[in-house]
Amino acid sequence: MAKAKKKRTRKKPTGMATRSGAHSSLAHQARIIDVTVQARDELEQRVAERTRQLLNTNKELERAMVDRQQLERELLEISEREKRRIGEDLHDMVCQELAATALFLKSTAKEIAADNAAAAATLEESAKTVNRNVGLARELARGLQAVELTASGLKNALRNLAAQACDSSGIKCHFKAARGVRVPDDTSALHLYRIAQEAVTNAVKHSEAKNILVTLDRNPTHTCVSVLDDGKGFAVRRRAKGLGLHMMRYRANALGGELKIERRRTGGMDITCIIPSRG
Ligand SMILES: Nc1ncnc2c1ncn2[C@@H]1O[C@H](COP(=O)(O)OP(=O)(O)OP(=O)(O)O)[C@@H](O)[C@H]1O
Ligand SMILES: [Mg+2]
Repeated sequence: MAKAKKKRTRKKPTGMATRSGAHSSLAHQARIIDVTVQARDELEQRVAERTRQLLNTNKELERAMVDRQQLERELLEISEREKRRIGEDLHDMVCQELAATALFLKSTAKEIAADNAAAAATLEESAKTVNRNVGLARELARGLQAVELTASGLKNALRNLAAQACDSSGIKCHFKAARGVRVPDDTSALHLYRIAQEAVTNAVKHSEAKNILVTLDRNPTHTCVSVLDDGKGFAVRRRAKGLGLHMMRYRANALGGELKIERRRTGGMDITCIIPSRG
């Protein structure tokens, strides 16, 4: 059964009703716009305020970082001076005393050789031991010696470091430098040298390597010093017992740089310090 279609007729509004409806809708829209504009203004104000706070905090952090780096540099300079003092005392006092003792033992051995050959032989042996200790103390003193380094002298100093390590350890220690490496200043050169010195000493002491390679390199913005070895390698632990790695990180940080300690895929370690070329 077909439903009878009901014809819908829309009631036409009268002129008055149309005008007042449009008016209230316009007022409503205007209110919404007002509220939106107010909310936007408040939000913008809050964003501006927060941005100001963040910029201030950022400036304070930057200032604190600069202060900290300055403090670290000063501490390292103190440590360098102390090292030099201990090195000089070791060389001028301990080495001289030990050398004199060795001479005394030798001459006494000669004097009593005719009467007591066994005692003389013991004294000769003791003199040799003391002389060996003179050598060790001299090496220690050399390691502690002040390195008079200028920024442009770093290349030669690293070359000498590799040569000395070769001589004293018997491990092949090579050196390679890129052309035109710029080191920001003398202090940076000294810290980079000390970092390489500790890394080479570690490689000699701990790695059982056959080869060590010291490199001085650069890219457009950074300077880097690396010490690679082909020894047994080690797993990096933050809380290592020794001072060496800790001091290397500290020095890299004071130069606004970074110390990377990585195991090489081929075996051994790659210790790299990278610093900005401009201090
Ligand atoms: N090239 C390396 N190859 C193998 N092991 C290494 C190497 N460098 C460091 N290590 C390991 O890391 C440890 C920490 O080194 P770090 O230089 O901090 O201390 P250290 O050499 O033992 O003592 P210190 O430097 O205070 O005289 C070493 O004891 C060693 O086990
Ligand atoms: Mg060490």
